[in-house]
Amino acid sequence: MALASLAIIRDYRIEVILDNGIVRVTFSKPGGDVIGIKYNGIDNLLETDNKENNRGYWDLVWNQKPGEKANNIDTYIMLRNYPGFYTYSILERLDGWPEVEIGQIRIVYKLQQDKFDFMAISDDRQRTMPTMKDRLSGQPLAYPEAVLLTNPSNPQLRGEVDDKYQYSSESKDNRVHGWISSTSDPPVGFWIITPSYEFRTGGPVKQELTCHAGAIALSMFTSAHYAGRDAVMIFEEGEPWKKVFGPVSVYLNSISIDDDPLLLWQNAKEKLQEEVEAWPFNFTQSKDFIGSDQRGIVGGQLLIRDRYINERLLWARSAHVGLAAPGEVGSWQKESKGYQFWTQADKRGYFSIKNVVPGNYSLYAWVPSIVGDYKYTKNIIIEPGSKIDLDMLVYEPPRNGPTLWEIGVPDRTAAEFYIPDPYPTLMNQLYSNHPDKFRQYGLWDRYADLYPNKDLIYTVGVDNYKKDWFFAQVNRNAGNDTYEATTWQIIFELENVTRPGNYTLQLGLASATNMELEV
Ligand SMILES: *[C@@H]1O[C@H](CO)[C@@H](O)[C@H](O)[C@H]1NC(C)=O
Ligand SMILES: *[C@@H]1O[C@H](CO)[C@@H](O)[C@H](O)[C@H]1NC(C)=O
Ligand SMILES: *[C@@H]1O[C@H](CO)[C@@H](O)[C@H](O)[C@H]1NC(C)=O
Ligand SMILES: *[C@@H]1O[C@H](CO)[C@@H](O)[C@H](O)[C@H]1NC(C)=O
Repeated sequence: MALASLAIIRDYRIEVILDNGIVRVTFSKPGGDVIGIKYNGIDNLLETDNKENNRGYWDLVWNQKPGEKANNIDTYIMLRNYPGFYTYSILERLDGWPEVEIGQIRIVYKLQQDKFDFMAISDDRQRTMPTMKDRLSGQPLAYPEAVLLTNPSNPQLRGEVDDKYQYSSESKDNRVHGWISSTSDPPVGFWIITPSYEFRTGGPVKQELTCHAGAIALSMFTSAHYAGRDAVMIFEEGEPWKKVFGPVSVYLNSISIDDDPLLLWQNAKEKLQEEVEAWPFNFTQSKDFIGSDQRGIVGGQLLIRDRYINERLLWARSAHVGLAAPGEVGSWQKESKGYQFWTQADKRGYFSIKNVVPGNYSLYAWVPSIVGDYKYTKNIIIEPGSKIDLDMLVYEPPRNGPTLWEIGVPDRTAAEFYIPDPYPTLMNQLYSNHPDKFRQYGLWDRYADLYPNKDLIYTVGVDNYKKDWFFAQVNRNAGNDTYEATTWQIIFELENVTRPGNYTLQLGLASATNMELEV
């Protein structure tokens, strides 16, 4: 635990207190768990019905063997005048340590459920939430996380589905989320702010949980969610490793009872912008957290050479460009041990990746609507204060000839395809008339309704992928908890087939976990 500025630490026998006059945080001793957060007249924002070790904690899930311990230093920082606190953790493996797999690293806060009733994770994903009790009195659905609320304390939620996975976000968008106690006087907001996601695994489009019922707010650093074992950190015997996770902050705000509680969300977003501008923070005391003067910058312009689209070089408009550990093309998606630094290019393909921690990286990119993945041929070595200008980089998408037909857009989402309506009895009202309709529960089973006997047949030139291509390649619910494999067909005609000649079928997968696709 580190102290910055004028916080007061009192070290009692069984607890430790950080207090800056605005917020008082109480930690268990020796456990180091956050057991109390006092703010604005509320004695404890955390759920006091929970045991002390089940309110606010760092959580590391690994295949621990008897007698093994993790070397893990969690640090909390409280600044003068900051309504909240920062936390980060340094994880280290030393030479000679045994092999280990780490499946999850996260921070969990469980807030008082009778106060924190409203959750906000983005501008268009906010809602009044059920409680844990509402879930327990509900009807479990296909997996334990999904529950039909049959008897919630708030009758307006009756008949809705609650499922924490419906509130996942892509890492690049998962920067501020939290809860509002909309009916307390005054209303209070509890937010987790993540100014940089350099320490998260899997790059910008890895999805992670944010908040969920139980008035739970998470900061996810690594997990197998949406990627399976490929995203798990697997260390060989003797493999040394060290990484700083965070800092992230818990930011608290409040507003007059006469004002709109949603102003708390607006204020939290403004605070995120301030934190982004202050990144990398200069108040950490560990030398393992690299400060701005020790970080580097890499810039350039990414262009596309694809003579089947245009004879001239094209700008890699809005390309996602990032640095991650050296590896194969696209390896950043499964990379979990190092830092990753991503940015999005402007419309001319210019990019600038700032605040890069010294190290050895590959430079990766992909361009929305352009097939394939880019990797720069050389490694990028960042030294303290490096300023690297790569000038012009040219990406040549993999192709052997003109596109004869294409279904959808290669952009790492399936959002453009046909997304069925959910079962009317299994809806989350948040996603009615919402661009994230695909997050509704049970859509996979709708395939069996649409294609009860025969599988999907798509005719190129006749069908429209927005209406005729089911958004996910699923198996068919054949009743009685049985599922059968499905075989889809794409019908197309080619005139003037070149013989002998090669034709290439390219597949862009938006995600795949525990699946096998045969073509
Ligand atoms: C960077 O990493 C690559 C791939 O692991 C390795 O071949 C290369 O030698 C490294 N370069 C430096 C300077 O460490
Ligand atoms: C499901 O199982 C029941 C009882 O064994 C049987 O009567 C019914 O026909 C089965 N339904 C299907 C769709 O297989
Ligand atoms: C096929 O070849 C014929 C004759 O050369 C030509 O008129 C036609 O446009 C070609 N069709 C396609 C799809 O290229
Ligand atoms: C087709 O591709 C194979 C494998 O790359 C290659 O060996 C063969 O020469 C190609 N045939 C033609 C006609 O281009």
